[in-house]
Amino acid sequence: MTQDAQNGGEEMGFGFIRRLLASESYLLRDHLLRLNSEARHRRFGHDVSDAFISEHARGASDFGNVTFGYFVEGEIRGVAEFRPGSLMQTDNAEVAFSVEQPFVNRGIATQLMSRVIRTARNRGFRHLILVCLPENAKMQAIARHYGADLKVEDGSVVADIIPRRADYGSMVSEIIDEPLTYLHSAFDMQKRVRGAIDF
Ligand SMILES: CC(C)(COP(=O)(O)OP(=O)(O)OC[C@H]1O[C@@H](n2cnc3c(N)ncnc32)[C@H](O)[C@@H]1OP(=O)(O)O)[C@@H](O)C(=O)NCCC(=O)NCCS
Repeated sequence: MTQDAQNGGEEMGFGFIRRLLASESYLLRDHLLRLNSEARHRRFGHDVSDAFISEHARGASDFGNVTFGYFVEGEIRGVAEFRPGSLMQTDNAEVAFSVEQPFVNRGIATQLMSRVIRTARNRGFRHLILVCLPENAKMQAIARHYGADLKVEDGSVVADIIPRRADYGSMVSEIIDEPLTYLHSAFDMQKRVRGAIDF
């Protein structure tokens, strides 16, 4: 894994990865609603309704949760959702991914994973857990790319990634990203407003 991958992400060809602000949870909802039924099923491990997705998206920035989006023209086209474990499992966090069909196979989820691993490192988590369906070979390939140990549990594949301990580079790169998050959020809002107005 490269140092860039350990420390965060980078600007990609057509979009930009950044943290989702609490005020932007509707962008996560809109992204998840755009997933086709198969992708929804793979993301949540079962079929889910629009109402379930809306409720789920409201928790995007609840305490400890961090959501990263791959933004194109102000809209989210891929996400990684990082959720700390329960009080019983304080050194575990979970992560889940989704990328809209026109954007798959461009390395977006792989880049999002590096950002999430940095988040886990900087918060002292010892295990980053990803649960997916056994037939989800792509997701398992991404987990293996980051050194995950994969096991089958209760009919699902559970990938356990052990993040390295935080270091100067991982901390500084996250600090540097914060002001950029707000700057890009403002740009993204402007793009959405422009897109909504028919000039
Ligand atoms: C799974 C998903 C997130 C992948 O996103 P993506 O941006 O297309 O993934 P990437 O392009 O970063 O990486 C794809 C990886 O799968 C590999 N891959 C592609 N097709 C594959 C296949 N049929 N079998 C095995 N591996 C495959 C690629 O080689 C690549 O791995 P590499 O980087 O080691 O070469 C996306 O397809 C998705 O949203 N699926 C629906 C939701 C879901 O399944 N979520 C996971 C449960 S949390």
